[in-house]
Amino acid sequence: MPAISTSAPAKTILFGEHAVVYGHPSIAIPISSLCAKVIIQPSITTNASIAILKNKAGDEEYKISALPENSLTRGAISEFEKAVGQPLPPFIVTISSHIPIAAGLGSSASVAVAIMRALAGFIGMNLSDAEISAIAFQSEKIQHGSPSGIDNSVVSFEKPVFFKKGFPLEFLALGKALHFILADSGERALTKDVVAAVRESRLAKPAKINMLLSKIGDLSTQAKSLIASGNAFALGKLMTENHAHLKDLGVSTITLDKLTESALQSGAFGAKLCGGGRGGFMVAICKAQYQKKITDELEKISPHVISFKLKEEN
Ligand code: PMV
Repeated sequence: MPAISTSAPAKTILFGEHAVVYGHPSIAIPISSLCAKVIIQPSITTNASIAILKNKAGDEEYKISALPENSLTRGAISEFEKAVGQPLPPFIVTISSHIPIAAGLGSSASVAVAIMRALAGFIGMNLSDAEISAIAFQSEKIQHGSPSGIDNSVVSFEKPVFFKKGFPLEFLALGKALHFILADSGERALTKDVVAAVRESRLAKPAKINMLLSKIGDLSTQAKSLIASGNAFALGKLMTENHAHLKDLGVSTITLDKLTESALQSGAFGAKLCGGGRGGFMVAICKAQYQKKITDELEKISPHVISFKLKEEN
């Protein structure tokens, strides 16, 4: 049986994080240049399935049965097994990911999707992107408690999506290529903790928080047609507005605010924190010509700056 290699992209949320948890719409895009890679091959020397995690510091090798049940690798594999309803023959899975962890870039969904695609290939099963996304949603629940489902959707389909809980997923065709810059705050927070903090604020101040969440959701709706026309300038204005609401929601940090201000001052059309917040990355949208200048400025305050382009539909 040949080795099966798969990959899945990172993602960033352009509009609607947190609001999406409460049924408002959200827009997310894939980052194809940043991905998780998985290789699966049959295990011929032992009956135990093995996971090899490739890190900068070297390889770590584990028996999958010895990993914690709620670990990303074991959780993804067991959700896959449950979904397909058959035990898997022994295998060796090698996982490498360049996606920063707990940084709002969808690292857990990406690793889960890449594992599930590889496992499907390993047992000769043809699963659609929608089926992979549905199984990855189960593994996201193990990692994040009650995720909205946007991460597994954008990562599985690798297309810009307009996502609203309980409604069919909409794919957004891009009118023109868009240019983005991501900058790491260097701070980390678990999405489930930040989602829980917003839930508490909403219980304490329902009117204020519900108003912010619905304003954020409205921005996603306004942004939808701007993606279709590729209007980076107008999208930027809405992203900056989204950041202001996220700040009022209490999920920004001083560093994330500094990063958005730096991007705006050096010529970005707009900037916001992305993902759960209280750390992780900020995302800015800009003209291609400004990418270098904005990056140079951001690098003065961020340990990791990444620029990427979202290509228009051909
Ligand atoms: O931090 P991330 O990249 O997992 O994004 C979280 C987005 C939230 O809206 C805060 C939570 C969710 O499940 O949608």
